[in-house]
Amino acid sequence: MLTKVLLILLGMCIILPSRSEEPRVESEYGPSAHDDVYGHQPQAPENKLLSEETVPTLTGPSRRLGNLQAATHILNSILNNYDHKLRPGIGEKPTVVTVELSVNTLGPISILDMEYTIDITFCQTWYDERLRYNGSFESFVLNGDMVSQLWIPDTFFRNSKRTQEHAITMPNQMARIYKDGKVLYTIRMTIDAGCLLHMLKFPMDSHSCPLSFSSFSYPESEMIYKWEDFKLEINEKNSWKLFQFDFIGVTNTTETISTPAGDFMVTTLFFNVSRRFGFVAFQNYVPSSVTTMLSWISFWIKKDSAPARTSLGITSVLTMTTLGTFSRKNFPRVSYITALDFYIAICFVFCFCALMEFAVLNFLTYNWTKPRASPKLRHHPEAFVCQIEDSDESDGEEGPFCPAQQSFRRHAIQNAGNGCCRWCKKYFCAVPSCEGSIWQQGRLFIHIYRLDSYSRIVFPVTFFFFNVLYWLVCLNL
Ligand SMILES: *[C@@H]1O[C@H](CO)[C@@H](O)[C@H](O)[C@H]1NC(C)=O
Ligand SMILES: *[C@@H]1O[C@H](CO)[C@@H](O)[C@H](O)[C@H]1NC(C)=O
Repeated sequence: MLTKVLLILLGMCIILPSRSEEPRVESEYGPSAHDDVYGHQPQAPENKLLSEETVPTLTGPSRRLGNLQAATHILNSILNNYDHKLRPGIGEKPTVVTVELSVNTLGPISILDMEYTIDITFCQTWYDERLRYNGSFESFVLNGDMVSQLWIPDTFFRNSKRTQEHAITMPNQMARIYKDGKVLYTIRMTIDAGCLLHMLKFPMDSHSCPLSFSSFSYPESEMIYKWEDFKLEINEKNSWKLFQFDFIGVTNTTETISTPAGDFMVTTLFFNVSRRFGFVAFQNYVPSSVTTMLSWISFWIKKDSAPARTSLGITSVLTMTTLGTFSRKNFPRVSYITALDFYIAICFVFCFCALMEFAVLNFLTYNWTKPRASPKLRHHPEAFVCQIEDSDESDGEEGPFCPAQQSFRRHAIQNAGNGCCRWCKKYFCAVPSCEGSIWQQGRLFIHIYRLDSYSRIVFPVTFFFFNVLYWLVCLNL
């Protein structure tokens, strides 16, 4: 039994090392896994192919010379009797131009100038029977200035403000002539095109910027733009210059425009973009709302701390003014108000009302209640003033001010007309004058000393509902 176990153990000892050696043996003699990873094997056939291709051309200069002469011959024969002033199919049928467009970069959009920049490679394809040829070449490529020897459609961009053709290192244009007379003409250009921006919904705005092109001289009866193979490539890579905007999509329309020179076929592409909200939110909405909320702090400050409350109110009003001006910087001087302007205006009104609340509170506390109390005042001036404040102010800290302000108040009573107050009393009543009657007929019962307490609730609740309404309307528009 023990010997059997020993034998098995011995056997395992022999098998295990030999197994672990196996790969080592393979790596020394067989094809290694290392080479597979670095792709030595797949490269070998490529090298072969390359050498097969390059060797005959290198060893056959005479054949190359033959090709050169043939090419020169073909080109000369087609271009010698070619009149590049006349369009193909003149007098027979309209020239059909197939358009392909690839957008290299889109943007930036200049809001101030109401224009946008687009860098495109514009491809036009048409058939020109005069350029047909026989020979071993499938196509000829004419680059740069050679293009001027061919007839080229006089396409122009109707809403372009500036167009830049690129000429480094050679003019960025190319014409390829195929055996069957097909001509492919490609040109790269950067266009600044006008784009009417409707800013009413700013900053929830989206725009559709047109790029329309047509022939400059050939009317519809002579030249037609075809849509069938219309191709357009736009992706994240070439719309990165839009910055604040997101590219949504592109649509195209074709229409006929009547001019004194004839009816032209105009094709328009609309690049639709919508604004990214984040930037404007942090620049405008957050400061505006925070400033508005800051102005409410005043309601928690004692009403006799006039300097604190006034400065807080005025500061918030001024901040809103600044924010309003700031939001209009880098903005076209449109006459209408935008969604953002409206929000800032409402925030301004909130801040202004918070400041006015203090003014009203102060006025009512120290002046408005006087006429009714004036008979009393004559007898016990100090007693009355202090009485109101003591009885209605839970803080009861106004006592020390009473004697000092007394003369001023009496002066104010004489000056402050009672006409306005009588009208006010029709609708409002301050507490001492209508104590005991909660609701008098046609009167709103306002406890003026509690104006702050009301404001603490009314202002935030109103602002909250305004925000709900605002965002509901703006986001669904
Ligand atoms: C682009 O905007 C135009 C005009 O506003 C609209 O008709 C078209 O449907 C929009 N296209 C896309 C893809 O959003
Ligand atoms: C252009 O319009 C045609 C027809 O309206 C449509 O088939 C084609 O897909 C459009 N092309 C682009 C790029 O929107």
